[in-house]
Amino acid sequence: MKREAHALEAARVRTDALFDLLDPAALYERPVPERHRLIFYLGHVEAFDWNLITRHAIETPSFHPEFDKLFAFGIDPEPGGAPADRPSDWPSREEVASYNARVRREIDELSREIPSQFLNVAVEHRLMHAETLAYLFHHLPFESKNGPAPEAAEARPLVNSMVEIPAGVAVLGRPRGDGFGWDNEFDRHTAEVPAFRISRYKISNSEYLEFVRQGAAPPHFWVERDGRWFLRGMFGEVPLPLDWPVYVTHAEASAYAAWRGAALPTEEQFHRASEGSGAVNADFERWDPIPVDAGAPGRHGVFQMIGNGWEWTSTVFGPFPGFERFPFYPGYSADFFDGKHFVMKGGSPRTAWCMLRESFRNWFRADYPYVYAGFRMVEAP
Ligand SMILES: [Fe+2]
Repeated sequence: MKREAHALEAARVRTDALFDLLDPAALYERPVPERHRLIFYLGHVEAFDWNLITRHAIETPSFHPEFDKLFAFGIDPEPGGAPADRPSDWPSREEVASYNARVRREIDELSREIPSQFLNVAVEHRLMHAETLAYLFHHLPFESKNGPAPEAAEARPLVNSMVEIPAGVAVLGRPRGDGFGWDNEFDRHTAEVPAFRISRYKISNSEYLEFVRQGAAPPHFWVERDGRWFLRGMFGEVPLPLDWPVYVTHAEASAYAAWRGAALPTEEQFHRASEGSGAVNADFERWDPIPVDAGAPGRHGVFQMIGNGWEWTSTVFGPFPGFERFPFYPGYSADFFDGKHFVMKGGSPRTAWCMLRESFRNWFRADYPYVYAGFRMVEAP
């Protein structure tokens, strides 16, 4: 078996385990209004592999064209454009499960002939959904899912500070012919970055709490009860852990930075500051964050540039010089080069190991509140 075929099998185990956490009735819920009902994703991760491989790698007749189409694409509507379908509009779990089983069987029979690039796309696409499904599951009632309650965290405010990053060259993207990357990771190029200062730690809940006390709206993951703040974790609520990173939207992150007289880092600045960083709290290690000062710093003394929450940048998502869309998946990146999506870097506790590579780029709308994403600030020296 090819290495990528093993990776696909491991990724399937990962998404299967996620769906196994759910109370069966929850499969027809839509926990996030701007996304499909969960049943869609059960079919989507398989239909995607099927459509990709049998239409673009090895021509194979369809055994279920209706499902191939129904489960082909997710959605990312403009504000106010949420879908209005009903649970009864979707097929039964059994029908989807039998479609899925056949897709896997047929793909596995072909796997030796499938070019590695297609298998890599299938693996990473599925693992991205393992993360974005966690965002959706996060918003189900706790009783609809089984898992470990958040680890109790002590209330421990900690002092953040700014670290100076000297002027230097940021290396972005990846060279062609050196392992898998998505279309938006090419071409490799460099940028001269003047000296700047950046937060040593991700902005913590305690720092953001000051902003909320000054009148800012609380982050989406916070709940107030009788004047006390709690954090809504994946499987339970805990008193707001003051030393965990705050997860906010891009708009909230920008507003906080402006309030402090600073800004969000650019993608280039992020690359400079993250040099020599190892991953902390990533690759499905936990469901929830850990304190912002855990782990070892990178070369410049900055903590957690990879893992424990994506980080918003001020960079609008766009193509690198030399960008070429994948002919078999033309919309993967290009559909989002619309000036409305911002680059996120790093990774969250639910980001798979393969996507913790330096060149990986993620992106979301400025006001999408469901992502495990925080931020840090930059200022001129
Ligand atoms: Fe997808």
